[in-house]
Amino acid sequence: MKDLKNTPELEVSMNPAITYSECYVQVFLGDCLEQLKNIKSETIDCVATDPPYKVTSGGNVPTGFINGHWRLKNGQANPQAKSGKIFKENEIKFSEWMPEIYRVLKERTHFYCMTNDLHLKTVIDEGTKAGFKQQNILVWAKGMHTPTQYYFKNIEFIVMFRKGNAKYINNIGTMALLNVKGLRNKIHPSEKPTELMKILIENSSKENEIVLDPFMGLGSTGVACKNTNRNFIGIEKDEKYFKIAEQRINARTLL
Ligand SMILES: C[S@@+](CC[C@H](N)C(=O)[O-])C[C@H]1O[C@@H](n2cnc3c(N)ncnc32)[C@H](O)[C@@H]1O
Repeated sequence: MKDLKNTPELEVSMNPAITYSECYVQVFLGDCLEQLKNIKSETIDCVATDPPYKVTSGGNVPTGFINGHWRLKNGQANPQAKSGKIFKENEIKFSEWMPEIYRVLKERTHFYCMTNDLHLKTVIDEGTKAGFKQQNILVWAKGMHTPTQYYFKNIEFIVMFRKGNAKYINNIGTMALLNVKGLRNKIHPSEKPTELMKILIENSSKENEIVLDPFMGLGSTGVACKNTNRNFIGIEKDEKYFKIAEQRINARTLL
């Protein structure tokens, strides 16, 4: 795989944290609003990301939620959840970063933005304002659920946008309902299965192309890129998650 350090179209000013001969991976610790400025316009082939957003509007934390992260180990409600946060860094607004994604993507490319039911409209509205066309809405069926009184929640959404003219996905026939089992023992509360990211990446990029995830968390998109021979640029603001991502993507074994 070519070494992107030497390609003129991608000038990133910081030192790459990880360099691989067979797959070029750069991960950056910091605020994506700052880091994205270092990526030249129209140099990225695909963006697949799972951005931060508030998970409740505050008030009482619902009881009986599964998967552990609504409650602390001692059984007490997690105060972060009460404030609408399940991890530290989630203040950024869609309107702040989506125009930057539009700028760095090449023409005729795809941008996948994961979200939940509460933020679906905002994602579509802000993506459209940034210049994208909505191509589709995919549904991730997680095979696990969060109980509510208004239908148990067992799905999340992935808004598929395109920049410029339409481009077919690579595996025509892929269903919009993606059945991929969610993770039970998560380190990051929003950790996504690499299998899920792989479906998006394989459909919207080719080997050796560059995939960006500006909110990489533990680097699930990066692991999927390595496993499919895509080059990867990842950004993460929280040092704790960044360090794990760095290790995960650096590992030669397939995760
Ligand atoms: C929903 S999580 C992504 C989890 C990821 N999909 C995974 O599998 O690990 C969003 C991540 O964005 C990070 N984040 C929040 N604001 C950020 C910012 N301004 N710049 C970069 N990262 C940010 C958070 O720390 C969090 O880890």
